[in-house]
Amino acid sequence: MRKGIILSGGLGTRLYPCTKVTSKQLLPVYDKPLVYYPLSTLMMAGIRDILIITSPADRAPFENLIGDGSQWGLNISYETQLQPRGIAECFRIAEKWIGKDDVTLILGDNIFYGNELINRFNAANWNNVGCTLFAYHVADPERFGVIELDHNDEPLRILEKPKIAPSNYAVTGLYFYNNKVVEYAWRINPSARGELEITDINNLYMQDHDCKIEYLNRGIAWIDTGTFESLSEASVFVGSVQRRTGMMIACPEEIAYKNAWITEHEIRRAAEKYSKSDYGKYLGQILDRKSTRLNSSHVSESRMPSSA
Ligand code: DAU
Repeated sequence: MRKGIILSGGLGTRLYPCTKVTSKQLLPVYDKPLVYYPLSTLMMAGIRDILIITSPADRAPFENLIGDGSQWGLNISYETQLQPRGIAECFRIAEKWIGKDDVTLILGDNIFYGNELINRFNAANWNNVGCTLFAYHVADPERFGVIELDHNDEPLRILEKPKIAPSNYAVTGLYFYNNKVVEYAWRINPSARGELEITDINNLYMQDHDCKIEYLNRGIAWIDTGTFESLSEASVFVGSVQRRTGMMIACPEEIAYKNAWITEHEIRRAAEKYSKSDYGKYLGQILDRKSTRLNSSHVSESRMPSSA
């Protein structure tokens, strides 16, 4: 079985003062909290057992917002990270919860969008390797983990935020691992900046020739909302796509319904609960538009909705 982790710890200091009393992942991206986007991505990958890792102070607001996930047919648990000691620490924290299962990690500030995604997730599920990473061509690779390629374009290793990037391929914040990731998380040591680096884990898989890179093409949008610029770009992007298509990006109720994890009854209940907002009105429309389930390409491309 494959479980999913959403890493939503960190202090959000780059977004102070907005994140002084709330988590970055609870800030709005257009019309819904940021965490809805990575959550929806895991749901699109068919993952229902999800652990959300927050800072101690943020745990209660996350639980208030999302609860146990049963409203979306999910099973959501919570853990806390005491200090932001690095992304890879999440596997140490989650060791018991992961048990013997495989695990997909998504960073709580990463947004993915595009109907090709579902094929990539399927590929990642069926790739016969211990680790699948998703790479994206970016103009500013120095901000990310960057893939170094050999002269045959085969990946050699990943460099974390190099001063001079060896390629334009950034490693996105979505990682599919087998259970060995827990062992690797205990094997690595903190980096020079004092963090347990996810890149060190990925390089261990690469050294074992047990890592596959899926290159996300330009039909897919990936936004790391680490700065105010990217956060507001993400809001503008989501707003434009939603207004143009009339379809919502990252609506957990819709994904759960189309995955047959919840019924009309639950959609109706949520629509009533949020009836004063556009979100609630949209939920009402999902049932009115039931016919699109049968005939639109949105559905034939996946059993998923329009979005990540
Ligand atoms: O977004 C993709 C990039 O994410 C990768 O290309 C990099 O290889 C990877 O290191 C990471 O880089 P970032 O600079 O974006 O990582 P950041 O420190 O911003 O952390 C990403 C999210 O993870 C952020 O929402 C906070 C959370 N986090 C981070 C750390 C270090 C935690 O919850 N705990 C932590 O200890």
